[in-house]
Amino acid sequence: MSRHKAVLIPGDGIGPEVTRATCQVLEAAEAPIEWVERLAGLAAIEAGGDVLPAETLEDIQRHKLALKGPCTTPIGKGFSSVNVQLRKQLNLYAAVRPVRSLPGVETRFEGVDLIVIRENTEGLYSGVENRLTDDVVMSMKVTTQSACRRIAHWAFRFATQQRRKKITVFHKANIMKVTDGLFINCAREVHSHEYPNIDYDEAIIDAGCMKLVQNPGQFDVLLLENLYGDVVSDLCAGLVGGLGVVPGANFGEQAAVFEAVHGSAPDIAGKGVANPLALLMSAVMMLQHLQDVEQDPRCGRAASRIEQAYRQALGDGERTRDLGGSLDTEQFARAVIDRLP
Ligand code: NAI
Repeated sequence: MSRHKAVLIPGDGIGPEVTRATCQVLEAAEAPIEWVERLAGLAAIEAGGDVLPAETLEDIQRHKLALKGPCTTPIGKGFSSVNVQLRKQLNLYAAVRPVRSLPGVETRFEGVDLIVIRENTEGLYSGVENRLTDDVVMSMKVTTQSACRRIAHWAFRFATQQRRKKITVFHKANIMKVTDGLFINCAREVHSHEYPNIDYDEAIIDAGCMKLVQNPGQFDVLLLENLYGDVVSDLCAGLVGGLGVVPGANFGEQAAVFEAVHGSAPDIAGKGVANPLALLMSAVMMLQHLQDVEQDPRCGRAASRIEQAYRQALGDGERTRDLGGSLDTEQFARAVIDRLP
């Protein structure tokens, strides 16, 4: 039987640990994937190449699919982020991060079910930074009408497909009247012209964050520009158990790259204790995407078997340390494999 080729980037820090565990579960669930392993990040530099080697980029373009572990980006110096480069070069303009409460993971709230959609290619992440004088530096927030319209269309289409009821845009258009003003105007326009059946509202981001941590149930789908989306996804992760349990996907017209929201976690790297669940859930999103795009029922089957198994494992109290348990990465993967239906 044929298998779908997907690029696998183990990444840095805890990346190789969580990708190994994820691949073990996918194999046990008979997911029809053939991995094409490629380097990016510090691992690529250490192997003597570029931080984002051309071969890695070309193979993602060829296979249109990748599962990526986190890549380290040096703070305040050094090379520019692989993640930003990848998203820009492949035009992966829509980041989707589903944030859901999980069985057995106790948090302040029950029944959280949010989807964070983030514009992934511009805003302050355009990387246009300059030193004007010795004591004045600047960073340019680039916002284009085409990218704002594109993400608004994508978000409303996605919300419709997922049978979601409401989109809320978080913004700061009271201060950034031109850039964030353009972002909300495009969302308003797409809503009123094409998707009046979906409820639409807006929140100034500071008040929106306060409302999120008071009562996340009042939100459904959140739509944000790049920087706000980055920050608010981690905030939302905190509502359901932390970075170990929130998956993500980056979609463009030509490719899709699936990755956890978390980073390379240098504080626990190499200890074998990272929670592989966020990457495993990202791999489940990848299988669901393959089911939709390739109409391959084997992918849908593997996705639902894995989902049932990790929910069962969590419900049985099988948890890694970040969730208050004592399992290490491999043990959690084994607990999931043992529960595959
Ligand atoms: P981080 O997400 O790596 O870690 C934040 C905290 O969450 C740490 O205490 C870490 O131990 C914990 N954590 C994260 N993932 C976990 C997991 N799977 N299981 C258990 N605990 C987990 O964020 P940080 O420290 O700000 O960034 C570290 C590096 O990762 C930086 O170089 C950053 O640029 C990079 N990064 C890469 C991303 C990507 O490749 N998509 C995304 C975010 C950060």
